[in-house]
Amino acid sequence: MQSHFKYQHGELCAENIPVAKLAAEFGTPLYVYSRSHLIRQYRALADAMKAVSPQIYFAIKSNSNLAVIRTLADQGAGADVVSGGELYRARKAGVAADRIVFAGVGKTVAEIDYALKEGIKFFTVESEAELQRISERAEQTGRTGRVAIRVNPDVDPKTHTYTSTGKAENKFGVDLLRAEKAYDIAARLPGLEVSGLHMHLGSPIMTPTPYVEALRKVRPMCEELKERMPTFKHLDIGGGLGIAYRYDQDPLDPRDFASAVLPLLHGLDLQVGMEPGRFITGNAGILVTRVEYIKPNPQKQFVVVDAAMNDLLRPPLYEAHHEIIPVVQSTERIYGDVVGPICESGDFMAQNRELPAVQQGDLLAVLSAGAYGFVMASNYNSRGRAAEVMVEADRMELVRARETWDDLLRGESIPKW
Ligand code: LLP
Repeated sequence: MQSHFKYQHGELCAENIPVAKLAAEFGTPLYVYSRSHLIRQYRALADAMKAVSPQIYFAIKSNSNLAVIRTLADQGAGADVVSGGELYRARKAGVAADRIVFAGVGKTVAEIDYALKEGIKFFTVESEAELQRISERAEQTGRTGRVAIRVNPDVDPKTHTYTSTGKAENKFGVDLLRAEKAYDIAARLPGLEVSGLHMHLGSPIMTPTPYVEALRKVRPMCEELKERMPTFKHLDIGGGLGIAYRYDQDPLDPRDFASAVLPLLHGLDLQVGMEPGRFITGNAGILVTRVEYIKPNPQKQFVVVDAAMNDLLRPPLYEAHHEIIPVVQSTERIYGDVVGPICESGDFMAQNRELPAVQQGDLLAVLSAGAYGFVMASNYNSRGRAAEVMVEADRMELVRARETWDDLLRGESIPKW
């Protein structure tokens, strides 16, 4: 599952570096990213899909550390951004503007102006009102707003309701019928150029079936639009490809994905775009945490660690499962919960589970934490956000310093009155 985090002589290593050494050097809680894993996942997807030479726009919402973005940009990745802040990060990390696409239902005037000025590849547009706004801003600033309408194909991605986006009841995109009209509006608006069609179904998706269903629905529309509009050149099939979060779970193999979707892309003669986030970053990262206390309650043990829901929100928010393993290999087991120090019963990493029999001071690794881990961290309970480290073979580098208490107060003031 996490092939770049393995035991060597009973000690968990990140590539070739003992995790205990990283914890000693940088402290805990600590996010550790494997550069080799990022590259391997990127290449696996690009190679599987090479028949259509896809442009991969890395979804930087999954992990927006500059070092991660740069690693992927060096492989040829562009970026899928969803805010002005993400666009700023992508540019700072060295992603060319013409490899950036900008999604999201609520783009502000300031964000649109910034993206127009940078000259991004296209906006993925979520509503008619947004088409109007982009056109107006483009005209006012003397630029062209390239747009791909986000079509909501009403397909069930069979994932958590909070992360399902391509069903009719979700706030994202416009349905197929409305999309036809939206394209007519876009074609008439003076500031716009229609670049293509976008879809994103949700995540994590564990089989190619929802993509196949969705492509069957949008393909005829793409063919028709391509005939009518000479600038219509892109089909962006979104992200969402799943990964294994459990030892007994089969990951989605990119080759299976490719053999299912490629037949629906062949002959379309459109530049295919993809927006994977988790598939690249999910198993490229772990969260290392230290046991502060063991609290044996009558029903179960509570392993109280120094990481909390402010560091990794996925377990309480989605009841997401993350495997938790000891940094020093052991076979002894206890039964209980791994919890953080935050004042909420929802502050857990694992509940009612067989756990390694750790003791105070031991280190644990929470797996599959590279996607939607640090990026969803907060300062709740005035906890500074964790440090982030990148490793590759024998090399390691602190790629984001741990937040200090002074960082927490930055920008605050007490009124003189
Ligand atoms: N493209 C668009 C338009 C998206 O909205 C998303 C994710 C992606 C691409 C990338 O999806 P991925 O390949 O990473 O699955 N916080 C949740 C996930 C939210 C995903 C939001 N959109 C989680 O922790 O599972």
